[in-house]
Amino acid sequence: MKKFLDSALLILFFVGLSSNFMSAKIHEAAGIIFLVGVIAHNVLNRGYYKNFLRGKFNRRRLVNHATIILFAAGVVALAISGAALAKYFSAPEMNWRSIHLGAVIASTIALFVHILIHAARYVKGKIFYAASITAFILAVGAIFGLPYLDRWFHKVEVNRAEILHGEKLNVEKILIVYFSRVGNTNFPAEVDAVSGASLMLDGKEKIGNAQMIAEFVQSVTGGEIFEIQTEKIYPADYGETVQVAKEEFSNGELPALKNLPEVESFDKIILIYPLWWSTLPKPVENFLRSCDLTDKKIFPIVTHGGGGFGESIDALKNFTRAEISEPLEIYSSDIPSARKIIFEHLKKFTP
Ligand SMILES: Cc1cc2nc3c(=O)[nH]c(=O)nc-3n(C[C@H](O)[C@H](O)[C@H](O)COP(=O)(O)O)c2cc1C
Repeated sequence: MKKFLDSALLILFFVGLSSNFMSAKIHEAAGIIFLVGVIAHNVLNRGYYKNFLRGKFNRRRLVNHATIILFAAGVVALAISGAALAKYFSAPEMNWRSIHLGAVIASTIALFVHILIHAARYVKGKIFYAASITAFILAVGAIFGLPYLDRWFHKVEVNRAEILHGEKLNVEKILIVYFSRVGNTNFPAEVDAVSGASLMLDGKEKIGNAQMIAEFVQSVTGGEIFEIQTEKIYPADYGETVQVAKEEFSNGELPALKNLPEVESFDKIILIYPLWWSTLPKPVENFLRSCDLTDKKIFPIVTHGGGGFGESIDALKNFTRAEISEPLEIYSSDIPSARKIIFEHLKKFTP
């Protein structure tokens, strides 16, 4: 019985890991069954807890305890963040996706060591300890590194026409202002899509994430759309752009803008921007500083690679007199499926 459950759990864990190849509902169901299975595994092995503090603590036992605690913490974090991502509850101030990714890695490594320890009857001495320490280092590295790698290499394919086609809303007059890497970069034709991680592809055409959201908002609301464009051109390479942005932050540079929108006749502005270095991109800051937005309301939509709102909402409040209201954050890879969430968000502009 125990062996059957353990094998099933292991298979289920790897099914859960292959989330990119399945629908969100199946992933969610696999997660719930896994959680129930882990609880059953613990009930069946409750003898372990009875002896948790008893007896001698040698290195092997310490490692075993540590991995079980790490695994338990990982599973709890997975369950809570999974529930948040599946919208069973809402706490937008937390970056649930990063927590989920980190917890996946932590529990994968803990599971690996846990199995290793049980296999330690066959793997002895130095090799065993070296493998355990390597696994821990990998776990910690992965918790911090994976969200970053995911952002760097994840390629998102979209069908723009499909996204823009659909139900419309009758909304009040709004201005949609957006800033996106695409539109401020000259991409050579041969740029490989994967090297431009923060891009979406519709066939061969590159679309900025904030741009896609802005176009969608425009298609639903019929609002007026304005793109923040800088005089300077950002590098086509993602990594280089990250460095250029870093310099802008450290120099306090405000990149000059090509033009500004006519804001007078609008009370409400939907401002869409990517998270840069956990905050507001400098060109967006310049837009806010250059327009008098007193008495206006800004509804920010932030697109990011795992950092959520970061500190960008506080930054917004610092740079404008406008009132900041009901921010929405969208993870870059979720954009193609975020239609419903954005649509619901836009309903607040209906008269
Ligand atoms: C210069 C730069 C800095 C970034 N910094 C962060 C960050 O700190 N946190 C994060 O989650 N994503 C970060 N990203 C990822 C972008 O926020 C994300 O890919 C966004 O969806 C890009 O939108 P865009 O294609 O409209 O430019 C950064 C991207 C760039 C280019």
